[in-house]
Amino acid sequence: MLRDEVLKFFSNYIEAELGIVYAEHNHYQLEHRLEEIAKVTGSKSIEDLYERLKNGISGQVKQLLLDSATNNETSFFRDPKVFTAIEEAVLKKHQNFVGQGEKLRIWSAASSTGQEALSIAILVKEYNEKNHSAIDLRILGTDISDRVLERAQSGIYNQIEMGRGLSELQITKYFQNTDQNQWQASFNLTQHIEFKKFNLKSSIPLTEKFHIILCRNMLIYQSVEGKKEILNRITTNLMPGGFLILGAGESLMGLSCDYEQSLIAGAMLYQKKGVLSKAA
Ligand SMILES: C[S@@+](CC[C@H](N)C(=O)[O-])C[C@H]1O[C@@H](n2cnc3c(N)ncnc32)[C@H](O)[C@@H]1O
Repeated sequence: MLRDEVLKFFSNYIEAELGIVYAEHNHYQLEHRLEEIAKVTGSKSIEDLYERLKNGISGQVKQLLLDSATNNETSFFRDPKVFTAIEEAVLKKHQNFVGQGEKLRIWSAASSTGQEALSIAILVKEYNEKNHSAIDLRILGTDISDRVLERAQSGIYNQIEMGRGLSELQITKYFQNTDQNQWQASFNLTQHIEFKKFNLKSSIPLTEKFHIILCRNMLIYQSVEGKKEILNRITTNLMPGGFLILGAGESLMGLSCDYEQSLIAGAMLYQKKGVLSKAA
C-alpha cells in the first residue's frame, strides 16, 4: 500500500505544472501511471521513484510525468458543427476580420496530435475552392506534451486516425499514402501550420493576437480557479470581436464576462466583446 504522502506529492506536482486535478478517487489511475514511469526509468517502485524525485523533478522524468497525466484524445473534424459554425461566423465574413494581404490567424490551443489544426486548414481550403476566395491562413498549434507535438509535427496518421472524421476525397486530396497504414499531410496544408510547445498555465503569454482560438476539451480537467486563470490569459490573445471555441461539454458559465455567446449552426461560439478591428 502506497503512502498517501507519495501520491499527494505527485498529484500536487501535476496540478502545479498543468492545472490537472487528480481527485482522491482517481488516485488509482495516477498510481497506474506512476508504475509505468517507475518501470521506464529503472526505479524499483513508486516509493523508489518518489525518493529520487522528492527534492526536484526535471528532465526526462518531468516530461514522462506530464505526458502521462494528459488525455490526448482527438480526431479530425471533432464535433463537426464547430467547423460549420466557423464557416458561417468567420469565413463568410472574412473581410470583416482580415484586411488585404493579412492572414486569418487561428490558435489551436491544446492541439494534441494536430488533427484540429489540419481540419481547419482543410475547411479553409475547401471554402476558398467553393467560393473562389483566397483567404490566407496561419494556424498555431500548441500543447504541453512533447509526445503529441512530435506526432503533430510529423503530420503522419494511421488508417484508424484517418478514418475518424475525414472523407475518402479529403484523404486522397490532402494526404499522401506513405505505406500501407500511414498517411502524411501534404505541404499544401502543413505550410500554414506551426506547432510548438506551450503550457497554458504559463505566466509568460504569447504575444500574437488571433481571430479564433480553439481551446477544446482541455479546461474540463482544470479546477474552477485554473479555468479562470487560463481563460484570462488566452482572452488577451484574442482580437476584440474574435471567437473563442470550447469543447462540446464545456462552457464559460461563471468563468468569464468578456464574451457574448451565440449558437451558430448548432455550436456555441463565444465572441470577445469590443469592436472588431483588422489591425493585430
Ligand atoms: C483531450 S486533448 C484535446 C485535443 C483537441 N483540442 C480536441 O478537442 O480534439 C487535450 C490536450 O490538452 C493538452 N494539455 C493539457 N494540459 C495542458 C496545458 N497546461 N497546456 C497546454 N496543453 C495542455 C494535453 O496534452 C492534450 O493533448
